[in-house]
Amino acid sequence: MSTAAGQASAAYPIYNLIYRGQLGGTTAKPTGGNYPHDSTQYDLFLGKTSGTSIQFTKDLAGNTLTYNDSYPYNTKGACVECHMDHDVVQGTFGHSFKATEESFKKVLPTEDLLTVEHETEALMADLHTMLDVDKDGTVKWTRSSVDADLVAFCKIAGMTNAAKVIALGVAWNYNMVHGDSSEGAHNPKYIKSLLTHCKTIMTQLKAAATSSDSARITWY
Ligand code: HEC
Repeated sequence: MSTAAGQASAAYPIYNLIYRGQLGGTTAKPTGGNYPHDSTQYDLFLGKTSGTSIQFTKDLAGNTLTYNDSYPYNTKGACVECHMDHDVVQGTFGHSFKATEESFKKVLPTEDLLTVEHETEALMADLHTMLDVDKDGTVKWTRSSVDADLVAFCKIAGMTNAAKVIALGVAWNYNMVHGDSSEGAHNPKYIKSLLTHCKTIMTQLKAAATSSDSARITWY
């Protein structure tokens, strides 16, 4: 664990938490609202280049983690192409903002929307189980008044400060994808690599916890 090399590209709010010392002890009770608000569509759309999701460069075993992207960096106009597709039959543009399988396919011809949604849902369900440490059915982290997941996580024996920061990064990414509400559609390849790496890291974190600790046993 001492060589745990999960590194974040742009996790300012998370670093802010550390600088404020809120991760220092096992009874730390963070307050404040440092998780991503829900307008993350553009961030995930830009994927690797956006810098607002936490791109871990290595897992806890030191393996390099790579990220795929569904869009070239300079993609333009695709919000409109998916969400306001021209309906040939109706002769109208989609002001309902509802993306369709057809409009999705026009923008990302090699992807299948239903497959993307199913894969994302499965990964998100797994991460939900791993991150809902206080078992109240929600994953928020960082706001103890709203949800005590981080507090519960801090109580698991064997979790170093580095581990807590890494788990915060995972929770950040989870909340980004959740708030984005596209079930992976906004960047299938990127969102899949992001969530897959987060799942790997959470599995490794669990292995690093002290196995006889009661908090660890009720974790997941
Ligand atoms: C490749 C197709 C595609 C592109 C490009 C795309 N979206 Fe989406 N978006 C979807 C799909 C599919 C959903 C899931 C909900 C739906 O079916 O409308 C969604 C969901 C959303 C939602 C949530 C809607 C809700 O009901 O909760 C918002 C907001 C949104 N997109 C905004 C954007 C913005 C802003 C952009 C451009 C940065 C964008 N989308 C680009 C396909 C796309």
